[in-house]
Amino acid sequence: MKILIIGAMGAIGKIITPALEQKHEVITAGRNSGEIKVDISSADSIEAMFNQVKNIDACVCIAGDSHTGDLSSLTEENLNLSIKNKLIGQVNLVLIGQNYLNDNGSFTLISGKMGDKPAKNTAAKAIVNGGINSFGMAASLEMPRGLRINVVSPAKVTDIPVDDLTNGYLKSIEGMANGEIIRINY
Ligand SMILES: NC(=O)c1ccc[n+]([C@@H]2O[C@H](COP(=O)([O-])OP(=O)(O)OC[C@H]3O[C@@H](n4cnc5c(N)ncnc54)[C@H](OP(=O)(O)O)[C@@H]3O)[C@@H](O)[C@H]2O)c1
Repeated sequence: MKILIIGAMGAIGKIITPALEQKHEVITAGRNSGEIKVDISSADSIEAMFNQVKNIDACVCIAGDSHTGDLSSLTEENLNLSIKNKLIGQVNLVLIGQNYLNDNGSFTLISGKMGDKPAKNTAAKAIVNGGINSFGMAASLEMPRGLRINVVSPAKVTDIPVDDLTNGYLKSIEGMANGEIIRINY
């Protein structure tokens, strides 16, 4: 398969990318790193990326910033930044990318445990991650041309055995899963 990984050089990306490279052709992308430069908070940048990389079977997003901070310091501005970057960024990746991926391809988005089991200081993360999970479930019902979409929702990556993380991604990319939230190490 030809797999595009956005956020390949990040903490999770650095674990997943070499694992996928063992069996697949991988193209790396990131805001400032990787073979392709993309900012998922910009629809124009996403469109430009898909015009640059053709014939993708799997689009994996392991990118998207969101705010951490206590409730009393949460503002509309930092909430909007989180939503624009991690939530709308990934939604736009699917809305635009669905026109470019090969038939029967797949999207694998990232959310996180704080969407299901929030801790203190994670209200912005909870909103964003919950939104990504809900979008994945809903979008899976309407994907064209046999495309699939799943969301990987990991706990803190330093607490996760590498195989558990890798297997979560393989389930989405190589398996038949569609509309699943793949929760890892809760
Ligand atoms: N780390 C964890 O324990 C954990 C647990 C659960 C969920 N998550 C989620 O997983 C995702 C990745 O986490 P991480 O810890 O691997 O983050 P990270 O180390 O900060 O890496 C993020 C990667 O995404 C890229 N990126 C960030 N914003 C981007 C944008 N707007 N457009 C394109 N690329 C962008 C960065 O590229 P550049 O470096 O080139 O800018 C970097 O390669 C985040 O959404 C995070 O919330 C993380």
